[in-house]
Amino acid sequence: MRTQVAIVGAGPAGLMLGHLLHLRGIDSVILENRGRDYVIERVRAGVLEQGTVDLMTGTGVGERLRREGMRHDGIHIAFNGRRHHVDMAALTGGRAITIYGQNEVVKDLLDARAGTSRPLLFDVDHVVPSGLTDGRPRVSFQKDGDHCELACDFIAGCDGSHGSCRTVIPPSQLQVYQRDYPFGWLGILAHATPSSDQLVYSYHPRGFALFSMRSAEVTRLYLQCGPDEDANGWSDDRIWAELQTRLHTDDGWRPNEGAVLQKSVTGMRRLVVEPMRYGRLFLAGDAAHIVPPTGAKGLNLAMADVRRLADALAAFYSDGSEHQLDAYSDRGLRRTWRAQRFSWWMTTMLHRAPDGTAFDHKRQIAELEYLVSSRAAMTSLAENYAGLPFED
Ligand code: APR
Ligand code: PHB
Repeated sequence: MRTQVAIVGAGPAGLMLGHLLHLRGIDSVILENRGRDYVIERVRAGVLEQGTVDLMTGTGVGERLRREGMRHDGIHIAFNGRRHHVDMAALTGGRAITIYGQNEVVKDLLDARAGTSRPLLFDVDHVVPSGLTDGRPRVSFQKDGDHCELACDFIAGCDGSHGSCRTVIPPSQLQVYQRDYPFGWLGILAHATPSSDQLVYSYHPRGFALFSMRSAEVTRLYLQCGPDEDANGWSDDRIWAELQTRLHTDDGWRPNEGAVLQKSVTGMRRLVVEPMRYGRLFLAGDAAHIVPPTGAKGLNLAMADVRRLADALAAFYSDGSEHQLDAYSDRGLRRTWRAQRFSWWMTTMLHRAPDGTAFDHKRQIAELEYLVSSRAAMTSLAENYAGLPFED
């Protein structure tokens, strides 16, 4: 087999890259080690920055997003029993976020791929990129027990935080900045009408909680918990009691309850890999960087990466220029570190660290009070949350 760009991973990064390359007439093969249903059903984040929305609509995969996505002009920050509104649109000259589940993005991109004749192989095993610096890039893998080899010009490592692409880069060529947070999020999807029309991020002495949504009938909620907790150790009653304790505010606001449709625990990590390139291998999305979910940046960073990578590959195929390919990593890292800073700040401000002291608690309350009373501080939150322009 031969293609121009071998894409490892059919998450949002790999699928969007394949889509953008297709629109420019560049061939790709996408290799995914899980099954189609698993990829579609995986419940993940759901906040799209304006840049991500524009990318989807501008490339013809935004029709359902336009119909079903929920535009939010602001968010609420809650602590000490009160909710405070951050009017993102007013503070940023009209920028907003759109709520649309990541798995819906994946469905739309899978449909777009199916409308092309370009291959997307599910259930492949032992994906190993090689020839990254010897002029013969290729990917070997197993499919239905057969050994296959895919020759290509470039390999895009879009295989997420536990993928294999990153591991083929010699450690001496890589700087890794990594930390696991000492807490995780228990996330649920509930069949309940959202009781607020915007997200509520809450800091509570018992830990962080977040109120989000997926539709007019489905609420998405998160609770800070231990990093390795078993979600099955949390009964529905216990989850609701804890959510009500951490989220309710003195004005009587509280989340509506309903049947729990799904629950899972995710550990929280941060990771940056430098550089995002080794020879003919380019890393994009979670394969290159992981942010804690508090700033809702993971999916949006992945989209910014593949847009830049697709532009760079298109320039290469049109006139042989490698300038943009050479700039890919530095530009991506600049954006990544900004997102890391913001996600770190949101996470530290809103969570209780297991070794947190009374001083930390008072400092966090002071930070939150400053945030909601200063237009400058709220503007800083708003412009980061709504997202930097993709060109930055
Ligand atoms: N071979 C082939 N595919 C692989 C391999 C491998 N060795 N390892 C992982 N994959 C697949 C995963 O099954 C997954 O479908 O790569 C895909 C990676 O997708 P994501 O984890 O969704 O990562 P990415 O596309 O970078 O999406 C960005 O933003 O909201 C955040 O973390 C969230 O996934 C989200 C990310
Ligand atoms: C979500 O709706 O899943 C969501 C919202 C905001 C976040 C993280 C996740 O910061």
